[in-house]
Amino acid sequence: MALSPKKLHITSFGCQMNAYDAERMAEALAGQGYEETANIEEAELVILNTCHIREKAAEKVYSELGRLRQLKERRMREGLETKIVVAGCVAQAEGAEVIARVPMVDLVVGPQSYHRLPELVAQGMQSVETEFPAEDKFAHLPERAARRASPSAFLTVQEGCDKFCTFCVVPYTRGSEFSRSVDAIVAEAERLASSGVRELTLLGQNVNAYHGDGPDGRPWSLARLIKRLASMQSIERIRYTTSHPRDMDDDLIALHGGEEKLMPYLHLPFQSGADRILAAMNRGHSAAAYEALVKRVREARPDIAVSTDIIVGFPGETDQDFEETLALVDRVRFASAFSFKYSARPGTPAAEMTQVPEDVKAARLERLQATIELNARCFDAGQIGKRLPVLFERKGRKSGQVAGRSPYLQAVHAEGPMSLIGQIAEVDIVASGPNSLTGVIKSEFAWREPNQAAG
Ligand code: SAH
Ligand code: SF4
Ligand code: F3S
Repeated sequence: MALSPKKLHITSFGCQMNAYDAERMAEALAGQGYEETANIEEAELVILNTCHIREKAAEKVYSELGRLRQLKERRMREGLETKIVVAGCVAQAEGAEVIARVPMVDLVVGPQSYHRLPELVAQGMQSVETEFPAEDKFAHLPERAARRASPSAFLTVQEGCDKFCTFCVVPYTRGSEFSRSVDAIVAEAERLASSGVRELTLLGQNVNAYHGDGPDGRPWSLARLIKRLASMQSIERIRYTTSHPRDMDDDLIALHGGEEKLMPYLHLPFQSGADRILAAMNRGHSAAAYEALVKRVREARPDIAVSTDIIVGFPGETDQDFEETLALVDRVRFASAFSFKYSARPGTPAAEMTQVPEDVKAARLERLQATIELNARCFDAGQIGKRLPVLFERKGRKSGQVAGRSPYLQAVHAEGPMSLIGQIAEVDIVASGPNSLTGVIKSEFAWREPNQAAG
């Protein structure tokens, strides 16, 4: 008699890398008979995949664990076992403290140790695994699953960071920079392509610092890696995120003009428009250098959508500094931007500096977001009347609609059959709303038949 699968529930917070990690953990545990469920109440194994980037991150995890304790007790009364795993960047930062504060937690596992998860779960012993082992966790994770729901997939190519911006915890939670080898990435991309993936988003905390070993034994740049992946027939679209301004090299910029599979979208955080704040942040670039860089990217690809991350209220930020941030946003005309109030992270240098009052930060954020919104609406409205190739990924909001992404990463909704999911079709954009575009599908483009044997 076949055993019924054990149920696994993963709640993931934070960046896209955490989302990727969640998939890899689920795949690793599938080998032990675990099947994912959206219903946490029926899960025998619950993984909290945490993020540590902003304030109160750990507190939020502890309050979530309070709820999970109740769930565990409830299930125990019914004779059911529940294992609780804390993974991700809070696990890395807090380590054994998690179990000291919440003894019902079974496992604490940091982002570099996910390949050990199946073994640790099987052992059934309470443990904490937050080393940064020298071995490549990717080499020890099982292959990607054979079937996927979406034609768009994340693929981590680089992890960690050596830049130590003074506000940021990532170098402490993800460790130092590490690039996967080209062969390992190509093998994963082939596996994804043969399971129906058409679009790859290459991930890294500093993805454009990629310098993995090539098949020729030399380090390859991100541009070279993208070219290699673009040579795979079934991969139609390539994106990458997040980039650091200091690592945008000439080849990568040129590739935006020359490689049609590289989508016209660039996420390039600048954090602040004031040079003295950029220096205090240890960003290693000036505001003018950032603008000059965007100009060069736009020369290579004039229609490119540029997006960014901005922090307001970094310690010492004056009204004048903030005005410079606003002015830069207005000049660059970002297609989208993520903006945050600075939040002090214990253990980082900026946490020790004189802080900007909360109400000042809040007021600045509000003004900044209004400016960002205006620019974003402008960029979106600029697509009306254009015909764009859209990769359809899922059912739309309304029945009879399918939803996908434009080359510029905008969500696009259009009436069309479900059979379009996984395909690229040309769409005439007729309207733009706050979060998406609406279009009319022109032709089902069968311009390139998906090729099962990728390569
Ligand atoms: N590696 C990327 C960003 C990773 S964190 C880069 O260098 O650009 C994602 C974003 O979170 C950052 O770009 C920054 O804007 C924001 N962030 C990080 N630490 C923060 C903090 N302490 N307070 C507020 N925002 C922060
Ligand atoms: Fe954090 Fe800076 Fe590294 Fe980005 S570059 S992950 S903001 S330390
Ligand atoms: Fe958060 Fe860790 Fe990503 S702190 S943003 S989950 S790298």
